[in-house]
Amino acid sequence: MAFGHGVRLKRCGVLARLGLTFMVLTLLGGAAASGFYLWLKQEKRDLHPGLTIDDIKAHYHGLQSRPRLLVALERGHPEELNAEDRRTLTTWMSGTPSEMEQAWADPDSIDLTPSEIIAASCVSCHTPDATGPKAYPQLNLRVGSFAAIQPLVTSVQIQPVSMTILALSTHTHALSLAVLAMVLWGLTLMTRWPGLVSGALLAVMGIGLAVDIGSWWLARDHAAWAWGIAIGGAAFNGAVGLSGLMILLDLWLPGGRGKSASA
Ligand code: HEC
Repeated sequence: MAFGHGVRLKRCGVLARLGLTFMVLTLLGGAAASGFYLWLKQEKRDLHPGLTIDDIKAHYHGLQSRPRLLVALERGHPEELNAEDRRTLTTWMSGTPSEMEQAWADPDSIDLTPSEIIAASCVSCHTPDATGPKAYPQLNLRVGSFAAIQPLVTSVQIQPVSMTILALSTHTHALSLAVLAMVLWGLTLMTRWPGLVSGALLAVMGIGLAVDIGSWWLARDHAAWAWGIAIGGAAFNGAVGLSGLMILLDLWLPGGRGKSASA
């Protein structure tokens, strides 16, 4: 690679290399912070805890989110709940909202009503003032009316991000991240690492970025493009991290000044 042979980071003076070192460290810190922000912001997008592909689908495509209570019951939560009550609750949640409202505290019901089961089996751990090692006060299930529990027991339609915000976000991210990638491109080519390694890494970086941001738009119509966002984004971020690391190592490992200046 003609460019890489001529100019080497390692030939810069100590102060210049020191400056670059801290710039790269700041950049890596910024990349980590954006990952953390993404997790904080998107983790609950689909209304269920944990960052999954559904959070990405919810944000870019919109999503019919399954009832939180149903998801918890289906995964066997809480262990203490007997099978009959579990079945009553899950069957109840398969009804239409008006059927559910009717059955919620039906005074004519012979069996326990959903409201009675929740009061008896869930509220001990799920009230704002619940304490103890197994309590989960963040989720309040001490509710009187059906309206209060409805968002937890019926499917919720999550709208995708608005076109305006998507355009704004594309404009800021596409411009800044592409420029960031170009800077890393130049710096990486000025390191000692074999051209094939840097080349492959830079190809992954560029393609990953384009696939990520392009998929934001494609996912509006087809939810499957959420995978493009996940995989493209991971590839881009991984490549940024790796090239930062390669630059840092090159700056401070012995050698690496290139052929013409090795004397
Ligand atoms: C012994 C205490 C305990 C009981 C009883 C209990 N829970 Fe929980 N629940 C927890 C804890 C702790 C968590 C958080 C950890 C987890 O998700 O398993 C939780 C989590 C949940 C979640 C997921 C939280 C979320 O953010 O989506 C739901 C839904 C839920 N519980 C519903 C119920 C229902 C319905 C009942 C009664 C049938 C019930 N729980 C009974 C302790 C309890």
